[in-house]
Amino acid sequence: MSETKEALNAFAIDIKSGLQSSPKTLPSMYFYDETGDALFQKIMDLDEYYLTRAEFEIFVRQKEEILKAFLGEDEGFRLVELGAGDGTKTKVLLAHFLNEGVPFTYSPIDISGSVLEQLKDDLKGELPSLKVEPIVGEYFSALEALAANDTSKEVVLFLGSNIGNFDRAAGVDFLTHVGENLSSGDMLLIGFDLMKNPQKILCAYNDKEGVTKAFNLNLLTRINNDLGADFNIDDFDHFPTYDPLTGETKSHIVSKKAQTVYIEALDESFSFDAWEAIHTEVSQKYSRKMIEAYASEAGFEIVQNFVDSNQYFVDSLWRKV
Ligand code: AVI
Repeated sequence: MSETKEALNAFAIDIKSGLQSSPKTLPSMYFYDETGDALFQKIMDLDEYYLTRAEFEIFVRQKEEILKAFLGEDEGFRLVELGAGDGTKTKVLLAHFLNEGVPFTYSPIDISGSVLEQLKDDLKGELPSLKVEPIVGEYFSALEALAANDTSKEVVLFLGSNIGNFDRAAGVDFLTHVGENLSSGDMLLIGFDLMKNPQKILCAYNDKEGVTKAFNLNLLTRINNDLGADFNIDDFDHFPTYDPLTGETKSHIVSKKAQTVYIEALDESFSFDAWEAIHTEVSQKYSRKMIEAYASEAGFEIVQNFVDSNQYFVDSLWRKV
């Protein structure tokens, strides 16, 4: 089976199992087709979506301390980034490290070769002296290959509160697995969105312009396009919730009426009750205690926490024990 056919098959299987479960779910990993990527870029520019700006501020204001902590007693390192993105935030660090004459190599890891090519070209223009060695592939096989072939100290970046989109058990599993591919003394800088005024959090996932709504509902459009479904998008709404007791932010798609949708690729129909909700995403918010527990469960110790001036976001630097 070709890779795209295999991916389409996995997509169909996941959609079927999500829509058959009770309550219904759809996995947030499928948000990110071309339209979803563009909508997420727009989200990051929204007034309400404070996360990206907070992390950017941490890098701008604390890049000297971050570099000092990355180096410790060492002279240089390999900076590995899980997920390439457009590099806007990372460039702040890269430019500073170059200015300071630090010997380091930047290795963004991404499943998409074209995204990495684009980033590499872009960096060649902006930071011509930067040594870039992108790695195309899954995070773990790439980290494994690095562990086998590279003796330099590794500092891994996992930014933007991407960890918040994992549930707790899957998150610990993921970070433990990252750690298994690192050596003692290697580091991980990981972004966590902190618990804060619940209204502020809810607004970040329910912006006035409706970009987050479009991002969430794009999942249905993707099922229509890729699996030949007949979701009428106007018959569904976006509904986020935040639980200040647990820090769990959840996005849902709500069916505005009783209706049945046919999915051609599955040759199957799915019924929705009026106001039935489909859970699509978790965006966990954290207390400092939760972050400490996370680090030790995954086999790391916290070296230093870098927090923005509003105390909205923390980039937590962990060392592999
Ligand atoms: C990618 N991830 C960290 C975002 C978040 O905040 O959970 C995705 C997102 N969902 C809605 N808005 C942004």
